[in-house]
Amino acid sequence: MRKKVTVVGAGNVGASCAARIAQLELADVVVVDILEGIPTGKALDMLQSTPVLGVDVTLTGVNDYAATEGSDIVIFTAGFPRKPGMSRDDLLWANYEIVKPTVEQAVKHSPDSILVVVTNPLDAMCHVALEVSGFPKQRVVGMAGILDTARFRAFLSQALQVSVEDITACVLGGHGDTMVPLVRYTSAGGIPITDLLDAATIDAIVKRTAGGGGEIVKYLKTGSAYYAPAAGAVQMAEAILKDKKRVLPCSTLLEGEYGIHGLYVGVPVKLGAAGVEQVFELKLTAEELAALQKSAGAVKELVDVMQPKLAEVRAAAGRG
Ligand code: NAI
Ligand code: 2OP
Repeated sequence: MRKKVTVVGAGNVGASCAARIAQLELADVVVVDILEGIPTGKALDMLQSTPVLGVDVTLTGVNDYAATEGSDIVIFTAGFPRKPGMSRDDLLWANYEIVKPTVEQAVKHSPDSILVVVTNPLDAMCHVALEVSGFPKQRVVGMAGILDTARFRAFLSQALQVSVEDITACVLGGHGDTMVPLVRYTSAGGIPITDLLDAATIDAIVKRTAGGGGEIVKYLKTGSAYYAPAAGAVQMAEAILKDKKRVLPCSTLLEGEYGIHGLYVGVPVKLGAAGVEQVFELKLTAEELAALQKSAGAVKELVDVMQPKLAEVRAAAGRG
C-alpha cells in the first residue's frame, strides 16, 4: 500500500510540497485548506500532471479532514507569510490561531503520524504543534535548517563555481536573523571553504544566508519563498517515508543538548521512520556555542510569550 501525506495549506509552500511529493512518487497526497475550491482545483491540476510525469500517486484537495485519515506524515504550511518590513516573529499570534486548530484536526485523524511544521515563526510553531498534538518530541519536527543550509550551499557553489552537490554545510539555530551558519563545518568536496575563499567573501555569504528569506520577500512583495522551502520539507518527508536515516538540520526539541533546555532549535538530527531518531551534538567553539545559545534565546522570547496559551492547551488535554 502506498504511503499517505497530508499537506495542510494549499498556498505557495503547500502546493509546491504536494507537487514535489507527486513528482518524486513518494506518496498519495491530500491537501487541506480553508479556501473553498482552491485545494480541490490545485490537486486536480496536479493529478492531471501524473500521466506526463509517469508517476502513480493520487492527489486530493479538500476542506475537511476526513480524507486525511491515517496519514503517515502531516506537513503544516497553513498560515500567513511575511510581507516586506515584517519579521517572521510578527506572525506569531496570527499563525498560532491557524496552527492550533489545524494540528487538533489533523492529529484526530492521523494519531500515528509524524508532523513536519513549516509555518512561521517556525521554532515557536513547533512548540504549538508539540503541545496541541501531545505527540512525543520525536514525531514533531520543524523545517528551516535545510532551507537555511541550502541557501548557504547555493551561494557558496556560485562563489566557488563548483557543483552544489559537493558543498557540505551546516546552519544551526532558530529560523531567524540569529541563525548560525557554521563555517568550520563547511567544505567543498571535503576541502574546508576557509582554504578556498577569503574571510571577507565568506562573511558576506554568511550574512546573505542569514538574510536569505528577507531578500526574497523584498522581490516578491506579497509573500515569501516557497520553492526551496517546499524542497526542504519534502526532503524531510522522504527521509521519514523511506527510513533513510538522513542527517539533516531540523528544528527539534532540545532537552539539555548544547546546554539548551525545552526549546525547539535547529541542529543536525537523524531523520528516519520514527521521526527524529537522534540529535547530534557538535563540538562547538565557545564563540559558536554562544551564537547558538543567543539564537535559542530569540526562540525562548516567543515561547515565553505563548506560555499562558500553551498552559491552557495542556490543561484542556489533561496534561497540565
Ligand atoms: P500562502 O499565503 O501562499 O499560503 C497559506 C495558505 O494557508 C493559504 O492557502 C491559506 O488559505 C491557508 N490557510 C490559512 N488558514 C488555514 C486553516 N485554518 N486551515 C487550512 N489552511 C489555512 O503562504 P505560503 O507562502 O505558502 O507560506 C505558508 C507559511 O509557511 C507561512 O507562515 C510562511 O512564513 C511559512 N514559511 C516557512 C518557511 C520555513 O523555512 N519554515 C519557509 C517558507 C514559508
Ligand atoms: C524564508 O526563510 C519565509 O521563512 C521563510 O524564506
